[in-house]
Amino acid sequence: MRVLVADDQRDVLEALKLVLRGEGFEVDTATSPGLVLSAVEKADYDAVLIDMNYTRDTTGGLEGLDLISRLRGMDGFLPILVMTAWGSVEGAVEAMRRGARDYIEKPWDNGRLLGTLRTQVELGRALRRSQRLEDTNRLLRRQGVPEMIAEAPAMQPVLRLLERVGPSDASVLVTGEHGTGKELVAEWLHAVSPRASRALIAVNMGGIPDGLFESEMFGHIKGAFTDARADRAGRLELADGGTLFLDEVANVPLAQQAKLLRVLQTGVVERVGSSKGRHVDVRVIAATNTSLTAEVAAGRFREDLLFRLNTIEIRLPPLRERREDIATLARLFLGRHAARYRKALTGFDADAIGALLGHAWPGNVRELDHAIERAVLLAQGPLVRAVDLALHVDGAAAPRLEDLTLEEVEKVLIRKALDRCGGNVTQAARALGLSRSAMYRRLEQYGL
Ligand SMILES: Nc1ncnc2c1ncn2[C@@H]1O[C@H](COP(=O)(O)OP(=O)(O)OP(=O)(O)O)[C@@H](O)[C@H]1O
Ligand SMILES: [Mg+2]
Repeated sequence: MRVLVADDQRDVLEALKLVLRGEGFEVDTATSPGLVLSAVEKADYDAVLIDMNYTRDTTGGLEGLDLISRLRGMDGFLPILVMTAWGSVEGAVEAMRRGARDYIEKPWDNGRLLGTLRTQVELGRALRRSQRLEDTNRLLRRQGVPEMIAEAPAMQPVLRLLERVGPSDASVLVTGEHGTGKELVAEWLHAVSPRASRALIAVNMGGIPDGLFESEMFGHIKGAFTDARADRAGRLELADGGTLFLDEVANVPLAQQAKLLRVLQTGVVERVGSSKGRHVDVRVIAATNTSLTAEVAAGRFREDLLFRLNTIEIRLPPLRERREDIATLARLFLGRHAARYRKALTGFDADAIGALLGHAWPGNVRELDHAIERAVLLAQGPLVRAVDLALHVDGAAAPRLEDLTLEEVEKVLIRKALDRCGGNVTQAARALGLSRSAMYRRLEQYGL
């Protein structure tokens, strides 16, 4: 069993080394968060035991809590144990929230320390084993269901809603910024529904040429108009028994909305040029990145159609509101692209994880996917490095997160949030998880 122990006090390290070696552990030591990261990059540990407080880390001002997030990002199964000052329960709770598995209070009791460490090493090994099994099981169990990462707290309400409405026939309206996964959600909902064996027909409402809407959606018969040389089924008929995905639904021409609504309500379609009604049984999922309520208010979207579509509304949070998922998503995309481009990449180095976590991701999950693809192409060693990701801040060369002080990082993040929210302080504060007053204090403090 090999463990890494980190503390900035040499006497603590010596004492721990003595205890652990006496019990047959192989022990490496580190005196700063930066050194912990480079040690974990180089060697496989059964567990790491890290102190939470460091006098300013000379390699970059990292704190104990950041260290936990970084380590989690590098390896989802490595048992992380933290040492906290006696009685500082909040610190321990926050550490566990970031992914530490257990904590030891200082001054420690040797018996309890060894017990905890052994348990966590065993647990870590068992987890790795079962994860491998589960990966195969999941593939078998949920064949065809697209993989969706949703571990972040902000995704939990979304996930619960998805699990509940997935199997039903309820109409679902999926909203969210560009690249947040709206189409993926539609595929997921279809795949877990009883309609999974039938078609999922996706129609991009922004992509249908003017004048062809009815023919595309409802079909036509031969001779209905000049170009109608043969009978043709519309998307609704094709989706019969399955799911119809109306993407970018805000773009349905106003003149067609009443007809679409009628068809959805009655389940009867007439092909253009024919008065014969055909029954179709479709479940409707719609997606939009604009506010349909605002479109209704502006007179561009019928309220009755909105009510037919949004029985259940699922709002996908932007990636910046679910940063906890960034590392996991990055690993998923890395696996995919590495396989596709036949590159033997195993993960990200610590700087790369830092750069991923520090980026604002205005293009959300799709931007992350593309960044990883580019990095896979550029990477040379076994790990993706920050330079391979080439994430730029406002067009200038991105400063390394490690080279900034906490204050500077805060300043950068606040400025970006303000940019993103068009200068709206309340919105920017919300995006950063700050109260309005806390935000204003910082604006004043940093002269922004
Ligand atoms: N939670 C997730 N887990 C795994 N992959 C995801 C997740 N969310 C999105 N993706 C992937 O990110 C990419 C973009 O997602 P998708 O096309 O569904 O976004 P969208 O919201 O429809 O974007 P747009 O508004 O631009 O149409 C896809 O490759 C998708 O598979
Ligand atoms: Mg889409």
